Amino acid sequence: CGIFAYIGDRQAAALLVTALKRLEYRGYDSAGIGIQGGPLKVRKKVGKVSNLEEDVSKAGDQVSGTCGIAHTRWATHGKPSDVNSHPHTTADSSVAVVHNGVIENHQALKKQLASKGYTFVSQTDTELLAHLVKDLKGQMESANWTQVVATALRLCEGAYGVAFIFEDEPDLIIGARKGSPLILGVGEGEHMLASDASAIVEHTKDVVYLREGEIVEVRRSSFKVMEMTAVVKKLAQQESPRRPDVENPIVRLELSLEQIEKGGFKHFMLKEIMDQPNAMRNALRGRIYQPVDAAPDVWEIKLGGLEKAKERAVDGRSPLERMAHASRLIIAACGTSWHSALIAKCAFEKLAGVPTEVEYASEFRYRKPLICQSDCLIAISQSGETADTLEAIKMAKQYKALTIGIVNVVGSSIARETDAGMYLHAGPEIGVASTKAFTCQVIAVLLMALRLGKQLGTLSEEMLHTYCAALSAVPDSIEEWLKSLTEQTRVISKYFRLATNALFSGVGIHFPVALEGALKLKEISYIHAEGFPAAEIRHGGITLIRNFVPVICIAMRHDPAYEQTKQVVSDFRAKDAAVVVITDQGNRDFDQVAQFVVQCPETKLELQPLISCVPLQLLSYYIADMRGCSIDQPRNLAKSVTVE
Ligand code: G6P
Repeated sequence: CGIFAYIGDRQAAALLVTALKRLEYRGYDSAGIGIQGGPLKVRKKVGKVSNLEEDVSKAGDQVSGTCGIAHTRWATHGKPSDVNSHPHTTADSSVAVVHNGVIENHQALKKQLASKGYTFVSQTDTELLAHLVKDLKGQMESANWTQVVATALRLCEGAYGVAFIFEDEPDLIIGARKGSPLILGVGEGEHMLASDASAIVEHTKDVVYLREGEIVEVRRSSFKVMEMTAVVKKLAQQESPRRPDVENPIVRLELSLEQIEKGGFKHFMLKEIMDQPNAMRNALRGRIYQPVDAAPDVWEIKLGGLEKAKERAVDGRSPLERMAHASRLIIAACGTSWHSALIAKCAFEKLAGVPTEVEYASEFRYRKPLICQSDCLIAISQSGETADTLEAIKMAKQYKALTIGIVNVVGSSIARETDAGMYLHAGPEIGVASTKAFTCQVIAVLLMALRLGKQLGTLSEEMLHTYCAALSAVPDSIEEWLKSLTEQTRVISKYFRLATNALFSGVGIHFPVALEGALKLKEISYIHAEGFPAAEIRHGGITLIRNFVPVICIAMRHDPAYEQTKQVVSDFRAKDAAVVVITDQGNRDFDQVAQFVVQCPETKLELQPLISCVPLQLLSYYIADMRGCSIDQPRNLAKSVTVE
């Protein structure tokens, strides 16, 4: 879901709708706006933001006003409908609220409010927030709205990012967060609140990230951030450890409008696939480099977030030193990020010799796993907001394990919650199916593996230099290759566009790439697809192979099980599968068995996934496009799953 709020001297309705379009990739089953223009005026519509846009333009002057809140919804409680869309209001329309997250004790709170005569018109958990705030205001006559909202939210269990407007306060929006992000944009004579920086950047680059448990009073010419607990304690005249007001620094967004627009591409996903060389360069920048006065083949590797974090050192050891000596690394992630975690396992074990386990964050947190203080939990997440991954971190922290984040979105919850980490610097990823964030995650874990290998002496200086040189060459070789690859994958896609099933296979470090290829195809083209380790397909998956079923095999000559893979590919062909082989340049081994052979630029085996995944991304993209699918916003799929 996405939240945006505006207060200033411009007409809010059009700004709110534009912002919702920017946020639409976070959820898109319904949308709505609420305007403070004397009485509160609410418009909401099921479906895409364009439906709301049409409704708002018809409403004309009825939605005039310079202060408002907006929401694009991804249903959790209550089906998508006009009435379940946000904002939700009190019966007398004196309070309106938009909300991301889930109020877990909503049933108990609703019951209490219902017994006092409040009636609910929607099936959402959010509606109760409006009634609760109104009810408390009646009881707390001398309290201001900030105190009332803080008191109300303290009664709510669960996660929220919220924004409120009030009929009797034309110069006030109240925002608050717990477990769901909220960012304040600071403009001249105007302010915005948003759950995602992409909605703010066209207005201002100066932002304040709200921290967990904070509430903000936003007016046209001022804002005040406070700690909710302290606000409530002060109200009750109890001792508070802190003053309610907190000083959150204003930071500059490193985000440009260009980055969040399609820039001539038909879809964000295609733009993001083509942007990968650039994104990878950004992920590598300053982290591997050749020192000016060193010999030509000497490379340095430096991960500031893990090495420099002195303030985060425990017993004088940096996070990197603690990672290197951890009894094991546990990587928790979901979806595509889980696939990067599988690649990370291969790299950490091979290059650094550190035992590594990979967990679905959702399974890990509910399994009550054995964790000890000497473990290190690494969370990989593009958004930095995936609820299960966040919970896995909290769990590891309970056992005092070191926590490391590999995250794309700056200032996100996972970035804040972990002890140290690395940003991907991939730039915003708007397409729901992850592409450039995946390859940059792989860059990040390879850098970590190499740095750990150096630290532990499992990699010789010479090996390290070879890997660094190879890694730094990857973006250029992909960029050059993309010139011909797009056309080649388009031809293959045309051939397969009517398929109903597809299998992907790969061995070793290419098994996760096969899984990722299958996931991409499922996500955006709705073709059923599965990934297998090449030989494992003989133990069941092979029954799915028949005439014309596409089997996409990654088979690189330097794969450890290359000979077996070749045999498996011949088996597929013998069973009339339509085989596509992704292999290295100049390899003619599959000319007689495969329908299509895609030759990739070669690099070192551990780095090869960065390259071999690209044709798979393009294949799913073109197949989905030829099938007329909604590529950037696939049905039922959210960019980040912030509910549990
Ligand atoms: C959702 C998205 C996937 C993504 C996964 C994990 O399921 O649709 O594309 O891989 O969440 O997201 P994260 O932001 O934690 O990497």
